[in-house]
Amino acid sequence: MNDYIMGRSAEETRRLELQSRLYAGHSRHLLELAGITTGMTVLDVGCGTGEVTRIVARLVGPSGHVVAVDADEEMLAVAARNMAEAGLHHVSFRRATLPGLPSARPVDALVGRLILMHLDDPVDAVRTMARHVRPGGIVTFQDFDVSRSRTVPSVPLLDRVLGWLAEAIRAGGRDSDPGGRLYSILRDAGLPAPRVATTAPGGDADSEVVALAAATLTTLMPLIGKSRRAVIDEIGADVLLDRLRGDMRAANALMFAPELVGAWTRTPLST
Ligand SMILES: C[S@@+](CC[C@H](N)C(=O)[O-])C[C@H]1O[C@@H](n2cnc3c(N)ncnc32)[C@H](O)[C@@H]1O
Repeated sequence: MNDYIMGRSAEETRRLELQSRLYAGHSRHLLELAGITTGMTVLDVGCGTGEVTRIVARLVGPSGHVVAVDADEEMLAVAARNMAEAGLHHVSFRRATLPGLPSARPVDALVGRLILMHLDDPVDAVRTMARHVRPGGIVTFQDFDVSRSRTVPSVPLLDRVLGWLAEAIRAGGRDSDPGGRLYSILRDAGLPAPRVATTAPGGDADSEVVALAAATLTTLMPLIGKSRRAVIDEIGADVLLDRLRGDMRAANALMFAPELVGAWTRTPLST
């Protein structure tokens, strides 16, 4: 199985939940643009704690069905609990290592958020997974452009931290800006030219947008370079978030979280 560079822990599960909360409306918008609607059967690949699963389940309604897939039992258990708590019973869960998928009847749509960057060969993965979609069905993925995150006006320490996050992702052998590559990934996988859109939450010093940046830095700490870690150690990792918030307040600044890019297309009607 491919390495998941963010690691697997209760802390990472909480970080994913925070991230999901911040991007929920944004993901829903991109899924609506992609055409996910009432009555569809949908595969959600790399479902994590099930935030996209929940959005899709609401969009398709009880006349539709969602199959949520992840390699991690703990993620699947949290996702199943979240769906039960939300009263969404038209969802089933499968454990699988992508691009492998449980065989079943072709679905109306294949969706995945923040998953392609974790796979070694995204083009081959999309090609393989798209075979599970009926002719004329939807294939849509969402992913981040981490280097598009910024502060306005610039807050130097936070801008440095944002740069380190992109660096750390690359140090982990992953693309820090896979969002902008979704278009070519879907095309190279043999699908018709996708449509694309981008969106990002922003917030002030006290917002969860800043908390997410600090939590992501904590998660990625093992991949942060020595010289950068020395800066963090000098400030103190436990007070870094307070320091970032203080710098933002002093500059009356706004921070934009990484941009979320959506790309969507339909499988050909005949081959
Ligand atoms: C960043 S999370 C995204 C979760 C969810 N899609 C979301 O947007 O909130 C990536 C998820 O993909 C799963 N994952 C990573 N590599 C995988 C693989 N090769 N097969 C199946 N799941 C994988 C991880 O366990 C994790 O739950």
